[in-house]
Amino acid sequence: MAMAHPQVFLFACAIALLASSSMFSAEVTLLSILFMYIILLSFFSPYIYIYVQNHTISRLCGRQVISAVNGSLPGPTLHVREGDTLVVHVFNKLPYDLSIHWHGVFQLLSGWADGPEFATQCAIRPGNSYTYRFNLTGQEGTLWWHAHVSWLRATVHGALIIRPKRGRSYPFPKPYREVPILLGEWWNANVVDVENEGLTSGAAPNNSNAYTINGQPGDLYPCSSNKTYKLIVKQGKTYLLRIINAALNNQLFFKIANHNMKVVAVDAAYTNPYITDVVVVAPGQTTDVLLTANQAPASYYMAANPYVSVAGVPFDNTTTTGIIVYEGAKPSTPKMPILQAFNDTPTAHKFFTNLTGLVTGPFWVPPPRQVDEHMFITIGLGLIACGKTGNNATCGGPNGQRFGASMNNASFQLPTKMSMLEAFFNNVKGIYTTDFPNQPPLIFDYTNPNNSFNPSIIMTTKSTKVKKLKYNATVEIVMQNTALIGVENHPIHLHGFNFHVLAQGFGNYNPTIDKNKFNLFNPQERNTIAVPVGGWAVVRFRANNPGVWLMHCHLDVHLPWGLATAFVVENGRTPSTKLPPPPQDLPKC
Ligand SMILES: *[C@@H]1O[C@H](CO)[C@@H](O)[C@H](O)[C@H]1NC(C)=O
Ligand SMILES: *[C@@H]1O[C@H](CO)[C@@H](O)[C@H](O)[C@H]1NC(C)=O
Ligand SMILES: *[C@@H]1O[C@H](CO)[C@@H](O)[C@H](O)[C@H]1NC(C)=O
Ligand SMILES: *[C@@H]1O[C@H](CO)[C@@H](O)[C@H](O)[C@H]1NC(C)=O
Ligand SMILES: *[C@@H]1O[C@H](CO)[C@@H](O)[C@H](O)[C@H]1NC(C)=O
Ligand SMILES: *[C@@H]1O[C@H](CO)[C@@H](O)[C@H](O)[C@H]1NC(C)=O
Ligand SMILES: *[C@@H]1O[C@H](CO)[C@@H](O)[C@H](O)[C@H]1NC(C)=O
Ligand SMILES: *[C@@H]1O[C@H](CO)[C@@H](O)[C@H](O)[C@H]1NC(C)=O
Ligand SMILES: *[C@@H]1O[C@H](CO)[C@@H](O)[C@H](O)[C@H]1NC(C)=O
Ligand SMILES: *[C@@H]1O[C@H](CO)[C@@H](O)[C@H](O)[C@H]1NC(C)=O
Ligand SMILES: *[C@@H]1O[C@H](CO)[C@@H](O)[C@H](O)[C@H]1NC(C)=O
Repeated sequence: MAMAHPQVFLFACAIALLASSSMFSAEVTLLSILFMYIILLSFFSPYIYIYVQNHTISRLCGRQVISAVNGSLPGPTLHVREGDTLVVHVFNKLPYDLSIHWHGVFQLLSGWADGPEFATQCAIRPGNSYTYRFNLTGQEGTLWWHAHVSWLRATVHGALIIRPKRGRSYPFPKPYREVPILLGEWWNANVVDVENEGLTSGAAPNNSNAYTINGQPGDLYPCSSNKTYKLIVKQGKTYLLRIINAALNNQLFFKIANHNMKVVAVDAAYTNPYITDVVVVAPGQTTDVLLTANQAPASYYMAANPYVSVAGVPFDNTTTTGIIVYEGAKPSTPKMPILQAFNDTPTAHKFFTNLTGLVTGPFWVPPPRQVDEHMFITIGLGLIACGKTGNNATCGGPNGQRFGASMNNASFQLPTKMSMLEAFFNNVKGIYTTDFPNQPPLIFDYTNPNNSFNPSIIMTTKSTKVKKLKYNATVEIVMQNTALIGVENHPIHLHGFNFHVLAQGFGNYNPTIDKNKFNLFNPQERNTIAVPVGGWAVVRFRANNPGVWLMHCHLDVHLPWGLATAFVVENGRTPSTKLPPPPQDLPKC
């Protein structure tokens, strides 16, 4: 059954209602219709329609067909309030399979709306649609939505801004204006082709050609003088910049010439105010900062360049810029901030570790004190056997093999016949196995570079191993980066939950020493943790949401290589702690 567009429907109702009354003058009637339309519209505003389709745009001296929502890059910003119900009808007019993930949304009892293909749903086939329904409860701040199939999220993404309920305020002074800043990554190519080329050869896929701010590369790139994001500010006013790293494969430094920023939230969780001249943001993460226009009226560049923790590999070393123009300033060449060096790990580490959670803020929950499940998970790269037989062909990765990646030496492979959530709900065997280990199968000197190409441990194999958790279990995970192939800072994203980040450090995690570093008082809360390069991070969360929740590296190059696993959280005993049945229109495989 096709549902009529509710806005059109309501407008028609409003007209019908008013047409039946004859006591209004024409003007009053028109005004009343408009007024009523606006009231009804705001009442029903959580109904959102998005169309994902081909869109041709000019960037960097060329024209490129991209997949885009409603013909815009980035896609539309969705504005909601805490406590709202969101109903999003997604129409797939692409030639590709599609699904949309609501990054950072808790999806309490609405796992069917989480989005990752083969995890919580099968893809929306070309020409089909799916309606995502979920509540935004117990979280406020900046989140975002993006495609969760292949590399489509490069251009299929947008901001999801959750404001406090009406009548409630931020735990910081009300900003004059709020501005989403989406940092992106651009290829002069079809990103699906770029990904497939890499996966076919086993080599690393092509690097991007540019970074972008709100879809624009900025005037340091060729043919881009009028492809530069501009923000006009009033001197003396304070702006809330909602910074989202929507890039596929790169962490970014973000700076504004002559201006400090005050961090007030990350990943839609409030932080203690933290003043900095540089924000570091990994793919998947968001950072809300207050920017006060307290400089002389002039133009100032905002700029983002990559933080590259891995040594000796080629990367996109370009810089994207936008311009902050003070109202009334004479036209001038914008001042440029001093960029961080690409390998400036000390700056990244300082930023990432200095943030603390706002214990007096709304929705603060202290970290669990008691731990039911202790997990130690190695994360990093490895090699997958080339797999070509007969003709002795070699693959494009190191040693003639394929690039791989794993957690506890299990290189994650999504199922293809059915989503894991359907298998969970219907008790279907053979889609995943519940033997993801709590410890790595082999204890070795994880971060010793001498192990980078140790042939006895570098190979890994594909499987679909998940970790089963009892409802409401508390979980502690030590994430330990390995030196296999090379050390690298991996942003690990957990679906369905925020975790508290208790501690982070370099080298091999040592429980006797490092347990003393745990911050159990005001740890930062996140959905994506950038695990220090050649180091470790400790997080805790409470598994109070039944369903199937991916945990994976948010560098899209590493996800198909296998840097992932999933938690299967069992139902609780009461109806209000059980996953409801799937919606009728859940896409079929
Ligand atoms: C997307 O475009 C459709 C059709 O123009 C429109 O009805 C819808 O409101 C747009 N969605 C958003 C979120 O802007
Ligand atoms: C959309 O773009 C893809 C990739 O460029 C192309 O193969 C396809 O034919 C296009 N579809 C339409 C309807 O234009
Ligand atoms: C959202 O919350 C409302 C009110 O509590 C509830 O009736 C509804 O089932 C929830 N929807 C989803 C998708 O969880
Ligand atoms: C990747 O880069 C190589 C070398 O520049 C180029 O030949 C190839 O076409 C690129 N692949 C894609 C899918 O754009
Ligand atoms: C600026 O944009 C216009 C319209 O998109 C285009 O015709 C023009 O060539 C662009 N100018 C430069 C310098 O890129
Ligand atoms: C970026 O890399 C290219 C190619 O290696 C090099 O020529 C260029 O100097 C680098 N630019 C920066 C800013 O490091
Ligand atoms: C901030 O980071 C620096 C460098 O890592 C460290 O010395 C300092 O103690 C940190 N401050 C806080 C409040 O965490
Ligand atoms: C190719 O593979 C066959 C069968 O595994 C093996 O006997 C042969 O020595 C290989 N040739 C080369 C050049 O490696
Ligand atoms: C790496 O191996 C070399 C040669 O065996 C050795 O001298 C060095 O100490 C090793 N490095 C580490 C960190 O173990
Ligand atoms: C990972 O498993 C493979 C076999 O699948 C084994 O050869 C390798 O030594 C293991 N490596 C580690 C680090 O456990
Ligand atoms: C989950 O555990 C917390 C802490 O022990 C407890 O307060 C809460 O009631 C539990 N929830 C359920 C539904 O059992």
